[in-house]
Amino acid sequence: MAAPIERSDCAELDRHDPLAPLRAEFALPEGTIYLDGNSLGPLPRAARDRVREVVDVEWGDGLIRSWNDAGWFDKPRTLGARLAPLVGAEPDEVVVCDSTSINLFKVLSAALRLRPDRTTVVSEAGGFPTDLYIIEGAAGSHRRRLLDDGQDLGEALDDDVAVVVLGHVDYRTGRLRDMARVTERVHRAGALMIWDVCHSVGALPVRLGDCDADFAVGCTYKYVNGGPGSPAFLFAARRHQDSARQPLSGWHGHADPFAFDVDYQPAPGVSRFLVGSPPILAYAPLESSLDIWNRVDLDRLRAKSVALTSLFLELAERECAGHGIEVASPRDPEQRGSQIALRHQEGYRIVRALIERGVIGDFREPDVMRFGFAPLYLRYVDVWDAVQELRDVLASGVWQADRFGVRSAVT
Ligand SMILES: Cc1ncc(COP(=O)(O)O)c(C=O)c1O
Repeated sequence: MAAPIERSDCAELDRHDPLAPLRAEFALPEGTIYLDGNSLGPLPRAARDRVREVVDVEWGDGLIRSWNDAGWFDKPRTLGARLAPLVGAEPDEVVVCDSTSINLFKVLSAALRLRPDRTTVVSEAGGFPTDLYIIEGAAGSHRRRLLDDGQDLGEALDDDVAVVVLGHVDYRTGRLRDMARVTERVHRAGALMIWDVCHSVGALPVRLGDCDADFAVGCTYKYVNGGPGSPAFLFAARRHQDSARQPLSGWHGHADPFAFDVDYQPAPGVSRFLVGSPPILAYAPLESSLDIWNRVDLDRLRAKSVALTSLFLELAERECAGHGIEVASPRDPEQRGSQIALRHQEGYRIVRALIERGVIGDFREPDVMRFGFAPLYLRYVDVWDAVQELRDVLASGVWQADRFGVRSAVT
């Protein structure tokens, strides 16, 4: 039997980690173990200078000339092309714009129009709430059919289903869906497939093109590290672009925005999914983060992600046994993204106590403690140290202190 893993073994893994040098590119606060990159990624160091450059040089000096000279007008497309490899898309299939919610509204509306004879949208009751709400808002007279946790998709598919909207990685448990298999089943039923890749982009290789996905949406503020509220993206497969019509027909999606026509004429290609003036300042940190991503081998990223989550699971079960913790994430690494979810009925307090000790995770109702493992900047020793803190919090009962019961607006 192999000897139990020790901290020195983790340090050894860090010494041989090909991604280890990338940690220095992030401004991580001293004494913090950041396990919440699945919610908000940390600051890429280079982003400080890039933000300053956009403010002082492009806006300050360039003024309105920068719409042309600094490439502002094309940013949704040029950043989309740079992000495309992260989701396995072609450069002309992605635009970076708006929020995930708005992008879902656009692609869902477009997809429904591509299946005019069908009246049902399938999604999942455990999906991220904004997806459920947007489906409700965009679906109009269409029926919404929601899968329960663990229910087989086949039970919901019939010849009335126009579109299926699913999360690639479950935001609570971290369960990873088989994108190729699911998309193929949806297509066999004659429906279109929209993926929400918020929890997989930057966490593992996403292969929208190889899986024949129709549309996808995702954010850039989690594993992609684009900054709080950074612009989201959408993917529209090339084969749909010229027949897709979305209802937010703003001037940036017009074929000739500066013709100032009375009537709307959609732009060719993915540009027809744009709406209004792009948020130039908000793009700046994302550009720095993409400078990092464009140097990352995604298979290496996935290998380290699996190693980190597996290590955390093994250590948490070894060190925290007997304290009422339950593993909510799949044990098979092939079936999970880059996070581990642990259930405990006092999970909120435990997470608050951990944060006070510098180990930052988060909490989702009713009892889920989420720990994200972003391979670009986390070390194996961080995993070790985080589990020691978790064990101490549980064993000491410190989480019972009154201050950990106070709810903040954002959990
Ligand atoms: C799966 C998923 N979809 C969508 C969103 C949020 O959408 P938006 O960027 O519009 O706030 C989140 C946010 O955490 C999410 O986890």
